[in-house]
Amino acid sequence: MKSRKIFLASVLMTGFATTPFTAAQTEAPEWITFSSKLDSMKEAGVGSVVYPHKIHEALYQCDDCHPKIFVDKIGANDINMQKNIDGMYCGSSGCHNSAEAFPLYLCEKCHSGKEKTR
Ligand code: HEC
Ligand code: HEC
Repeated sequence: MKSRKIFLASVLMTGFATTPFTAAQTEAPEWITFSSKLDSMKEAGVGSVVYPHKIHEALYQCDDCHPKIFVDKIGANDINMQKNIDGMYCGSSGCHNSAEAFPLYLCEKCHSGKEKTR
């Protein structure tokens, strides 16, 4: 009985030791809608941001973004356009502030305002 417990404990510990810890372990939906600042967006004449998570997964590694650019939890990042322009979040280097991706002034490409579920 005692040796069985030790065996189980060592299996568990080996499991933890060989699984590298990354912040992004679970899956994200294909599309994520950002609408927490909808009033401000409406004032600026743009819609909510419908973010294609899946497309970004295909282009980058999870840990290119998580956790250093975006906390991997819907709604956990306080994003606004000043921060994007200042090189944070969507405007991080190599992203929508560079030649790598379409620029921040193409508002509608992100602020499509069209809910997508697939
Ligand atoms: C280009 C950047 C980027 C890449 C690459 C990326 N993500 Fe994300 N991820 C985001 C953004 C942006 C959000 C939404 C954060 C928010 O709502 O504030 C998000 C959200 C998430 C969430 C939260 C889902 C929820 O229901 O709360 C998880 C989990 C996640 N990503 C996992 C992953 C995994 C796994 C990978 C790799 C296969 C990955 N992400 C690749 C940008 C990225
Ligand atoms: C690369 C994607 C992207 C582009 C391009 C973009 N935005 Fe945004 N914008 C975002 C994200 C993401 C948020 C945060 C949304 C949230 O958290 O609710 C945001 C937030 C906002 C907000 C609300 C917060 C704030 O800063 O007041 C306004 C207004 C806004 N954007 C206007 C614009 C305008 C105008 C343009 C074009 C000049 C633009 N955006 C281009 C992604 C983008």
